[in-house]
Amino acid sequence: MAFHEKQLPADATVADKALGWIDARFPLTSTWKAHLSEYYAPKNFNFLYVFGSLALLVLVIQIVTGIFLVMHYKPDANLAFASVEYIMRDVPWGWLVRYMHSTGASAFFVVVYLHMLRGLLYGSYRKPRELVWLFGVGIFLCLMAEAFFGYLLPWGQMSYWGAQVIVNLFGAIPFIGPDLSLWIRGDYVVSDATLNRFFAFHVIAIPLVLIGLVVAHIVALHEVGSSNPDGVEIKEKVDEKGVPLDGIPFHPYYSVHDLFVVTIFLAVFSAVVFFAPEMGGYFLEYNNFIPADPLKTPPHIAPVWYFTPFYSILRATTSEFMIWLAIGVAAYVALIIVKTTMARKFKIAAAVIGLIVIAAMFIFDPKFWGVVFMGVSVMILFGLPWLDHSPVKSIRYRPGWHKYIYIVFGIAFLILGYLGVQAPTTIGTLVSQVCTFIYFGFFLLMPWWSKMGTFKQVPDRVVFHPH
Ligand code: HEM
Repeated sequence: MAFHEKQLPADATVADKALGWIDARFPLTSTWKAHLSEYYAPKNFNFLYVFGSLALLVLVIQIVTGIFLVMHYKPDANLAFASVEYIMRDVPWGWLVRYMHSTGASAFFVVVYLHMLRGLLYGSYRKPRELVWLFGVGIFLCLMAEAFFGYLLPWGQMSYWGAQVIVNLFGAIPFIGPDLSLWIRGDYVVSDATLNRFFAFHVIAIPLVLIGLVVAHIVALHEVGSSNPDGVEIKEKVDEKGVPLDGIPFHPYYSVHDLFVVTIFLAVFSAVVFFAPEMGGYFLEYNNFIPADPLKTPPHIAPVWYFTPFYSILRATTSEFMIWLAIGVAAYVALIIVKTTMARKFKIAAAVIGLIVIAAMFIFDPKFWGVVFMGVSVMILFGLPWLDHSPVKSIRYRPGWHKYIYIVFGIAFLILGYLGVQAPTTIGTLVSQVCTFIYFGFFLLMPWWSKMGTFKQVPDRVVFHPH
């Protein structure tokens, strides 16, 4: 293609000329238009749609504060703890940078959990946004890995013993487990070698993948367009210029809207950073102000709050619970055989797989199954676009009783999170076992319950009341 520079009028300003020069060499104006000023977003977004932009903001906060932390932090088992103390006490504004980074980690999960909740309520993961969702779950996995690796770096008691517990979990995998955890640690216990590799993953490997996935997430979204609380596809009704009738340009309408929410978010964020950075031990655990001591195990080791729903599922998997889980697997296979229309050979395959899983449940250690269920509880999110068989996307047009299913699921998830930070008790374990059943039941039974009941008529155009 021939090189083409747009002809500008004689009275063009220097800025116009500079922009013309850039546009002839780089798609600046066209990218701005495609993703902002001519990206048409549905006009009926509600406040749940701001969390994507907020997640981008927190990502930037984490990267910028992280860069400044790395300037003073020492990834060495003999120096790490003291270097964090040095950042807090001696580096000018170091305390602020560190508290912004530690609060940012929790803020990231608050924002992302709310972002995922919006997806769940309005069926944002449904066709044609399956890939947007899959990239999102990939981002969620990266965030978890990023938070886990980062938590070892201050080299406090919780950093050390938290990493020890989690890496030891891999040891429960049959046959390869012990070698695998040795390979991850790079030593027989969590040590300087572990700290060095976790540092490499935290500061470069995972952030690179994370940023790549965030770009893919937004590019995929802008390819198909945003959904909305009505689940109406706005691209289906366009004017003569191809502009969606129910769409408004993202910039300036939603950019101004998001900027307003950013100020509120920053006010809350600052309040936490300045007045409650430890958040009662939930954002920064008290035991982590004690240097790592390989000879002294803290009495109660709990992960940070954002991991605890999944950690509870791990702890709920006791040997007595395995019997109930095996009954659950048998019932699920029976349901597939009786209630689906799939070919006979697939039903036989389901029965065989079910039998193998049940047999394996009694052969391998419950500790191993705890790890499996914890992993599956996150991985199951990948399957959501194909588990939901509802004829409508948004909860607004689903049968009224569906919302109770979402409420029960939400409460079970919160209870699992709460129990995960507490020391285990008999009653706590029982409750977490019930909640584990609810958690998996919500997803695994979705192909059936999501299409049951009387659905409301989805309107042709989005519902919008200007105020
Ligand atoms: C670093 C983390 C993330 C960032 C920066 C991010 C960013 C965004 C942005 C800017 C949007 C468009 C605005 C909006 O609809 O809110 C969006 C949409 C979306 N995100 Fe994320 N996201 C992140 C994580 C996730 C995760 C973990 C999931 C799910 C597992 C997810 C699922 C979705 C879906 C399904 C949409 C489309 C919403 C719709 O059109 O209805 N995102 N994301």
